[in-house]
Formats: sequence, structure tokens, C-alpha cells
Amino acid sequence: MIDAPALHLPFEKLETDVAWDPERHIEITPPEQVVLLEEWGPEAAGPTALSPVAITGPFRFLSDEGAESLRAICTKLEGYATGMERIPKKLRGSIYRSAFLRGMAFDPTILAFLSELAQVRLEPHPVQHHAVHINYAPDDLSLNVDQWHHDAVAFDYVLFASDPRGMQGGRFEYYAGPVEEGRHLLLAGEQLPPEKVRSPEFPAAGWAVLQQGHRVLHRACKLEERHPRITVVNSFWAPVPGVDDPTDLPTMLKIDGREIALTEWSRFQARVAAHRLEHFAATRTDFSRPLPELQADLRQIAAALAEAADAFDRDEEGSLIDYGAGS
Ligand SMILES: [Fe+2]
Repeated sequence: MIDAPALHLPFEKLETDVAWDPERHIEITPPEQVVLLEEWGPEAAGPTALSPVAITGPFRFLSDEGAESLRAICTKLEGYATGMERIPKKLRGSIYRSAFLRGMAFDPTILAFLSELAQVRLEPHPVQHHAVHINYAPDDLSLNVDQWHHDAVAFDYVLFASDPRGMQGGRFEYYAGPVEEGRHLLLAGEQLPPEKVRSPEFPAAGWAVLQQGHRVLHRACKLEERHPRITVVNSFWAPVPGVDDPTDLPTMLKIDGREIALTEWSRFQARVAAHRLEHFAATRTDFSRPLPELQADLRQIAAALAEAADAFDRDEEGSLIDYGAGS
């Protein structure tokens, strides 16, 4: 189990929080379906896929009591939410404000369940602003909850904290095809073919889908009537030797600002380098390997860390993946 770093931040803690209790808060119902990237054609995985999985059908891992605590906490946290161009109302850093959300994100039973679904070992995202992100219903009903995009993280789940029953609009949609194919259509100003746009049916609050978000084009549609829609988007790191993780600094700079982004980035890069060094030490240092190869491996790991440190000297605004409203 990965322990979260100690809290020493200026984030205000929620006054009426709920202590995370796995005995009371976890109840697992697996999904009926897991969609593989290969079902979307040979191009859908691409060179950066971290497992064969694209997206699951709806599942739940929270009990009724857990789901109600989640809804209550997210509702209380709404006062901290802010907007930006792609996402009109969202909250980041909620793991620093709520022990319940922190416990949910780091729970070993939930991580083991999700890892089995993902077909790769998942860890809570070391960028803890990615680890728990909350989307709220926009005040302006003409806006999508979130535009078409793919994620700058390996895996994430989209969990309804609010009851989706009776909601008009506000559906979560994904494109059942390669990200690049859908992106090409959207950037050309064309509609995505409706037969390739899927929308899972979430039965109630506490239900989620898990996706390999960097390989799945998706959005959350605008609401057609006002509804207290709240979704929790929890992200995960899937450390796979030899495959680069999609987590990037520009996204964090844009969405969280320089101070938070570079702090979170330094933790992430430290974990990535540590993982690479462990893998190198365990599997790459036998006597059959030529010395120049060992040297090159060490230099590659060191170069990634040097690049992460160099980013502190640059003054960059960052950027967010955004392919527009689509329709
Ligand atoms: Fe997303």
C-alpha cells in the first residue's frame, strides 16, 4: 500500500467531514462489461496503452452509506469550486480537504478491485490534485460540464456522487474508436458519428465507470434542466516499465497554477524516477549487458529528473487538452 505524503498545506479542511471506514463504506458490485481497446480497431491502443482495457460498464464500490457520505461531502465542498474555459465548475485538491476522500482514494481494497478491472496495477495518482477531482453542474446551462478531451492521466474513474435518476442531459459520453480518429473529426469541425458515441447508464449515486482516460475520447454533456449533478473523477498512476505515463506538466500548470503544479510535479517525477531505478536495479544490471547500455539507462533516468528540475526555471502558462463542444 502506498502511504500519502503528510499534509502540510494551506488548504482549509472540511469542518463536517466523515472518517473513511472501509467496513461501512465499501460494497463492491463489478461491471457487467469491460470494453477492450482492440474492439475499437488496431489503432486504438497505440504505443502508449498501459493495458488492453478501454472502459468498463458501470460498477459500484461504495455502500449506500458510503455513497451518501460522498454526496454530502462533495456538496459541502462546492463552495470551493472554481471554473475555467473547458470545465465551468470543478474542484481540485479535495483530497487535502477531506479525510473521507483521502481514505477512498488510497483504500487498498478499492485499488485491488480497480487494478483487476484495469488489467494493470493501479496506484493513487502521485499528483494528488489529479487523485480526486470533482465536477459540478455549471451555473450556465448552455455549457457542457466538460468538453471533448482525453485525459492526461493513465486511468481514472467517473463516479456519480449525485443521483443521476431524473437528470435531463448531463450524460457522460465516450467515442468508441481511436482517440486520434475522433480528435481529427472534432478539430475538422465535423460531428462524431452518432453510432460510435456511447453513453453508460448509471443506475444511481455511487456508480462509476473506469477508463484508460488517455486512450478514450470523452465528455460530459450540458444539462438540459438544472440538476445538482456532481461527479468525482479519481485518477491513477499505472507504472509500467518501458512505457511513458501520459501525466504532463502543461495540464497541471494550466488547471492548478505554478505553485501547486510544480510541487505535485516534483512528487510525481520522484516516484517515476524511483520506479525506473528499482526496475533498472532489479532487472537490467546483469553482467551480460554491455557497459555502455547500463550507462545509457542511468543517464536516461537522470535526464528525466534534470528536465523536471529545469521546468522550475521556466515561466509557462500551460495548456489543457480541449477538442470543443462537438455539437
Ligand atoms: Fe476526462
